[in-house]
Amino acid sequence: MPDGDLTGRVAFVTGGGTGIGRAMALELSRRGAKVAVVGRRREPLDETVAMLDGPGFATQCDVREPETVGGAFDAAEDLLGPVTTLVNNAAGNFLVHAEDLSPNGWRAVIGIVLDGTFYCSRELGRRVIARGGDNAQIVNIVATYAWTGGPGTVHSAAAKAGVVNLTRTLAVEWASHGIRVNAIAPGPIDTEETRKRLWADDAVREALLQKIPLRRFGREEEIARACAYLVSDDAAYVTGGVLAVDGGAWLEKGMFGP
Ligand code: COA
Repeated sequence: MPDGDLTGRVAFVTGGGTGIGRAMALELSRRGAKVAVVGRRREPLDETVAMLDGPGFATQCDVREPETVGGAFDAAEDLLGPVTTLVNNAAGNFLVHAEDLSPNGWRAVIGIVLDGTFYCSRELGRRVIARGGDNAQIVNIVATYAWTGGPGTVHSAAAKAGVVNLTRTLAVEWASHGIRVNAIAPGPIDTEETRKRLWADDAVREALLQKIPLRRFGREEEIARACAYLVSDDAAYVTGGVLAVDGGAWLEKGMFGP
């Protein structure tokens, strides 16, 4: 009987040093998974590993570089065993008017979010297929603006829309290999990064709150628990899904209101 237990899973969490990535790494570990965290900065990754409940591993990796991704998988597998579970969480984002966004800024965000998700997914897919199929899972972190559009974040919104499509495509393509592929679309989650990058201003923060039916920002742990569910056998029949965890925010479009 499934019970959310993740013993036997080996998870690879990108952007696992901070925010939602760290929260997911901790939750997977709490439920029994071994966890590798990767990211660009060493220090927060080491901090995450020190906080894990069980075996863990940290290595620096820029998901925009496919060779580095392969090397990080090799290193994680040497220490923890074959990776069963990939969480594509690494992201880059900043608010910018589309007309002011430089090609390099566009490439940076598309590179991390869309290319990086593909490179890591391909790496997991190849390894699972080579070992003859498995109970494997991919969870991609997207955003509800993937389907509404996201003025002020044209790079991130376009990239996340691509990741939603990639989620659905790979769910079908890799189902026969035992790989389930799902996504989580967090709404406004209060983290150190989002506070700094997206709603540093009190007025912006207050206006945003008014648009969230549940009238509060989400918590990192709420995304972490959704991730643990999708990875677990409780979700054994769930693939190709996008789970919005957003307090109802993306649906708040009523003209008249309650
Ligand atoms: N507004 C406009 N342009 C910006 C910007 C901003 N706030 N921040 C970065 N850019 C542009 C840079 O100017 C540069 O373009 P240029 O060479 O034409 O000047 C380009 O983006 C790349 O920036 P750089 O800092 O060299 O890239 P990077 O690969 O080191 O960083 C980012 C990637 C830009 C996404 C950076 O914000 C990042 O590392 N973010 C990771 C954390 C994160 O964003 N998490 C999301 C939480 S909501």
